[in-house]
Amino acid sequence: MCGIVGYIGKAAAPPVLIQGLRRLEYRGYDSAGMAIVENDALIVARAVGKVANLTDKAKHDWPASRFHQPSYGIAHTRWATHGSPTENNAHPHLDASGNIAIVHNGIIENYRALRGRLEAQGHRFFSDTDTEVLAHLIGSHDKGDLFQAVCDALHQVEGTFGIAVVSLREPGKIIAARRGSPIVLGIADGETIIASDASAILAHTQRVIYLDDNDIAIVTANQVDIRDLHNVPVNREIAQLEIDAAAAEKGGHAHFMIKEIFEQPDCLRNAIRGRLDFHLGSAVLSGMGTSPRDLAEIQRVVLVGCGTSLHSGLIGEYAIEDLADTPAEVQQAAEFRYRNPIIGHRDLVLAISQSGETADTLAAVREAKQKGSFVMGLCNVVGSTIARETGRGIYLHAGPEISVASTKAFTCQVAVLLMIALKLGRARRFSRQEGIEFARGIESIPALVEEVLALDGTIARIAEHYATQQHAFFIGRGPMYPVALEGALKLKEISYIHAEGYHAAELKHGPIALIEPGIPVIALANDIPGKDKTLGNIEECKARGARILGIITRGDEEAAAVMDDIIEIPACHPLIATIPTAVALQLFAYHIARIRGCEIDQPRNLAKSVTVE
Ligand code: F6R
Repeated sequence: MCGIVGYIGKAAAPPVLIQGLRRLEYRGYDSAGMAIVENDALIVARAVGKVANLTDKAKHDWPASRFHQPSYGIAHTRWATHGSPTENNAHPHLDASGNIAIVHNGIIENYRALRGRLEAQGHRFFSDTDTEVLAHLIGSHDKGDLFQAVCDALHQVEGTFGIAVVSLREPGKIIAARRGSPIVLGIADGETIIASDASAILAHTQRVIYLDDNDIAIVTANQVDIRDLHNVPVNREIAQLEIDAAAAEKGGHAHFMIKEIFEQPDCLRNAIRGRLDFHLGSAVLSGMGTSPRDLAEIQRVVLVGCGTSLHSGLIGEYAIEDLADTPAEVQQAAEFRYRNPIIGHRDLVLAISQSGETADTLAAVREAKQKGSFVMGLCNVVGSTIARETGRGIYLHAGPEISVASTKAFTCQVAVLLMIALKLGRARRFSRQEGIEFARGIESIPALVEEVLALDGTIARIAEHYATQQHAFFIGRGPMYPVALEGALKLKEISYIHAEGYHAAELKHGPIALIEPGIPVIALANDIPGKDKTLGNIEECKARGARILGIITRGDEEAAAVMDDIIEIPACHPLIATIPTAVALQLFAYHIARIRGCEIDQPRNLAKSVTVE
C-alpha cells in the first residue's frame, strides 16, 4: 500500500528520501514522487512506475548539486485508489498557491463534497485524487500558521490519513499527522525521519515515536512537538526498534519470498522460544495477561483476520475446539463490524494480523472492544496499531516480512495459535501428560519445516509440470482445508494462475464440473482422520483426467499409489502437520511463479499492508 517518507536534517533530502522509498517498495505501489524544500524553492518530481523511474527523472531534470546540498522534503509511493496510476495522480500534491505540498496515505471519504465546495470557491484541480483536495483544503485555511491550517483541514475530513506536509512560507518544519494510517517518527542525531513504516527509518536510527490517531506533530531537525487536533500537547514515548537493516535485505536469495520461506525454521524457533512449559504441559504466553481462571471462564473464541491471516485463524479454530473444548469461530474482519456481531465479555476475540495495520482487522478490534469483549492481537510488527490498541496479545517474532506474499508470518501465526490452544486446553480438559505431548509436537515444528525445505529441489522439479497451467484446485479436509485455501491463495497471488481451494468433500457439489483432462488437483492427503475419504475424492478427479499432486505423509504407500506426483511430509500430529504442509505449498507456488517469470515480491495489484477498506 502507499508509503510515506519525510526527512529533515543536515543532509541533502533526495538521496535519503529515495533510499526510504526503496525500503517501502515491498508494500506495493504504482507511482512515486517527492517534494524538496531547498533555499526558497519547493521542487517536485513524480514518476509512474518504480522508484528507479523517479530517481532517473530527478537525476536527469535536477542539477547534481541538489543531491548534495542540505534540504528537507517529503516523498511517497502511491498505490492507486482514487484515479489511475498516472504522473498527475502521483503524490506530492500542491495547494492552489503552489506553496504547500502534501503526501498522504489513506482515503478521504468526503473528498467529493470537499472538492465541490472548493471548486465553487474557484479552486482548480489537476488530478483525480482525494489527496489534492486535502492539499487545497489545507491551503484554504492557511493564514500563516501551517500547523493550525492542517488542524482546521483535518477537522473537516472524514476517512483515514497519514500525512506529511511542507510549506514554503514556513521553512524548516514538516507537519505530520495520522488517523487510521500509521506514521512513525525516527529520532536521530540532528535529523528526523518520518515514515509510514519503520523499515524506511532503520538505516538512520532505532529510536522511534509512533503517532496515535489524531496526533499531529511539528517536526524539525532537532525536535518533535506532538499535539492533538485541538492543539493540546500530548506525550508519546520514544520506543526502540527491534529489527535491524540487514534483516530487510535479501541475503543472497533471488527474492524476499524464498528468503522468508527458508527463514521459517529460525522464525518458528523465535516464535516458540521460552513459550513452552514442559513441567506444566502448557504454554507461557505472558502477553495474554490471563490467569487460568480467566481462561476457564472464556465462553467462545472468535478469530478475525484477512487473507492469509484469516486462513491461519481457520486452523486456530480447529485447534481451539479440538484441544480446548471451547467453541471457536472465524469471522472475516471485513464483515465483523458491519454484521453487528453477537459478542460479549466472556468472548475472547483474537485479531490476527502480520502488519498490525490492516484496516478491516483494526476496525474489528475496535468493534469488539466497544462490545466489551476480551480482545487480543496476534501481530508480527511490534508497535503496530493493532498491537497497541489491543494492549495485550502475542507477538509472532517472525522478523520483518518484506515479500507481499505472506509465508513466515503465516506459519508463526499457526504456531502461536497452537500454543494458545494448548494453554486454553490445559485450563480446561487437557491432562498434564497430554499437554506435555502436544508441547513436544510444537517444539518439533522447526525441524519438521527443515525437512520440507530439504525437498526444495524436488518441489522445483515437480513445479515444472504444473507451471504452464491456467487453473488449479487445492483440496483438503479438517485442518488441511484451510491449508488448501492458503495454498491456492499463494499460487494465485504470485503466479496469476487461477487457483481455488475447496474442502475435498465440496468438489462434488459443483466444482467437479470444471475438472477436465490435465487440470491440476493439489490434494492434501496427509495421513490424518478423513484421509480415506480424501483419497476417494481424488479418485473422482482422476476419473475425469485430472493430474494429481499429492501432499502425503512420508511412507504412505496407499496414498502415493493414487497420485501422479507426491511431496512427502514427515509424520506428525494433524494440527502440527498444517505447518510443514503449508511450507511445501509455499515452495510449490514460489517455483511456479519463478518458472513463469512473475514479479514474485511485488505481484501486480497487491500491497503488503492493506490500510484501506
Ligand atoms: C497474502 C497476504 C494477505 C494478507 C492480508 C492481511 O499472502 O499477505 O492476504 O495476509 O492482507 O494482512 P495482515 O496479516 O497484515 O493483516
